[in-house]
Amino acid sequence: MKIGVFDSGAGGLSVVKSLLADNLFDEIIYYGDTARVPYGPKDQNTIIRYSLEALEFFNNFEIDLLITACNTVSAYALPEMNAQSSYPVVGVIEPGVLALENSDLAKNDNILIMATRATITSRRYELALEKLGHTNITSLQTGLFVPLVEEGIFEGKLLDATMEHYFSAIEQPKAIILGCTHFPLIGEKLKSYFKDEPILIHSGEAIVEYLERRYDLEVKEEEASLKIFASDNVAGLRKIADDWL
Ligand code: DGL
Repeated sequence: MKIGVFDSGAGGLSVVKSLLADNLFDEIIYYGDTARVPYGPKDQNTIIRYSLEALEFFNNFEIDLLITACNTVSAYALPEMNAQSSYPVVGVIEPGVLALENSDLAKNDNILIMATRATITSRRYELALEKLGHTNITSLQTGLFVPLVEEGIFEGKLLDATMEHYFSAIEQPKAIILGCTHFPLIGEKLKSYFKDEPILIHSGEAIVEYLERRYDLEVKEEEASLKIFASDNVAGLRKIADDWL
């Protein structure tokens, strides 16, 4: 199977990392819209327009499936993307919610959803969790973590101050949904901020599990080939890929 992975920028490489670790696919084509990142503070119509333009890029390759690694795109553009493509387009929100359901949480345990402004405003995670009966959900727009990770800041005073800024007044969570591609890279730091280290839900791991079950996939013997493309600053993306992968 040849798959595409689309993200607003470099963050989706955290999903690629999980895809490579599980090795279920023959070929991975990654496209990061680095010219227009971040999508998180943008309006719904802009996010949908950019996402449909990304489909045009993937028309250059005969892919069997497209993963939208970006939570913001997954929150807004899946119906339009699926309507305009000949292959399935799968987002990360449903797999993330299913992964959370498979952990042993009580319905009144506090779940913290951390994501961009657009993802939080869409309420996609929140509504899916409410539908499953969860009653104690905290939704937080935590967009400042995105540029920190892009800058390679994975620890130190700036990260500590940002965590303090966002988390000092919230209830201790039992689980955190890392609802943004960048957050798994600082997942352990985020977890250690809280006293009773919460369970982390990571989009990359969740989507690998989801696809494995949905398409009955088996682990390949040969390593998958990975091609990386970007709409701007390819060298920058390649450097991040070298560091992260
Ligand atoms: N990829 C985005 C997401 O997962 C984060 C970066 C952005 O705002 O574009 O929501």
